[in-house]
Amino acid sequence: MKKDLEKLKQEFEELIHKVTDRDNLENLKTEFLGRKGKLKNLLQHVATLADEERKVVGKIANEVKEAIEVAYGNKEQEIVGSESSVHAQREWIDITEPGHFNEEGHLHPTSQAIAEISDIFGRIGFSAVRAPEIDWDYYVFESLNMPKDHPARDDWETFFMDIPEAKKGKLVLTPHTSNSQVRHMEEVKPPIRMININRTYRRQIDITHIPMFHQFEGLMIDKDISVTHLKGVLDYFAKAFFGPNRKTRLRPHHFRFTEPSFEVDISCEVCGGDDSGACRLCKGGWVELGGAGMVHPNVLKAGGLDPNVYSGFAFGWGVERTFMMREGIKIDDLRILYKNDLRFVKQF
Ligand code: PHE
Repeated sequence: MKKDLEKLKQEFEELIHKVTDRDNLENLKTEFLGRKGKLKNLLQHVATLADEERKVVGKIANEVKEAIEVAYGNKEQEIVGSESSVHAQREWIDITEPGHFNEEGHLHPTSQAIAEISDIFGRIGFSAVRAPEIDWDYYVFESLNMPKDHPARDDWETFFMDIPEAKKGKLVLTPHTSNSQVRHMEEVKPPIRMININRTYRRQIDITHIPMFHQFEGLMIDKDISVTHLKGVLDYFAKAFFGPNRKTRLRPHHFRFTEPSFEVDISCEVCGGDDSGACRLCKGGWVELGGAGMVHPNVLKAGGLDPNVYSGFAFGWGVERTFMMREGIKIDDLRILYKNDLRFVKQF
């Protein structure tokens, strides 16, 4: 029996030598020391031995068991060690290596222009407001002196929401930012100086039109406001945004919500306003910027103001157009602005 025990110990030591992972190690331990293991099996008949012999055998059996446990413990350490070194190798990082930097982006050209335009008007006391970009027909047309079915509405190729009409008419995707005029008058009493920059929508898509674009709307109302003030503000903006040598010019036009109405031109950056027609960029020294005019008495009334007391001016221009004009970008397709093409966007 003593020999058998010795053999058992040897056998275990040989086998454990080859073990390299935890599972096999556990199996081996159970195989030798488990309830139905080899050691138990050997000691089955120990009870039948004489007292003397039983003691001796019992002692050896304990020694064997201990030896096996020690060998098991050592192997376990070894496996844990090698596992963590494999792990360490796989997860190794060179902390001296220079880092990978995330490329820093910048604002989209349109957002840059919006920030700049708000800032320029902010400096002369125009506070930025935001009228809804989906609004009632009343604010978009009717309160702007364009009764239902008035043909002037056709100039704004409008998207109508497909939902039932309410008290203020249909809901529309605003085709211009002028909905902010009466909305603002309803909220703020004169003196009024506001700038509303927002998304606008029209049913047009081709190389010079995108169905979603941006406009900025200015409104100033007080006592004794005249075209001179309009001209002063526009000239100030032209110089601040386009450069100190630029001038603006007002050309008669027609809008239902302003009287008189104008189209605003800016002197050409190339020829500086040469009206001989020689410049290849512009026609006669001027390029068109947007619309403007003195707020129509009916619009003041819709906003709850007495046209005999108050007067004011408004203007509304496209942000994308104004920006492109300054940058001198002659792109052959306006839609590139919103195509997320980094090769284009990164240039600004
Ligand atoms: N809302 C006009 C447009 O979109 C522009 C405009 C605004 C004209 C304010 C006059 C006054 O064309």
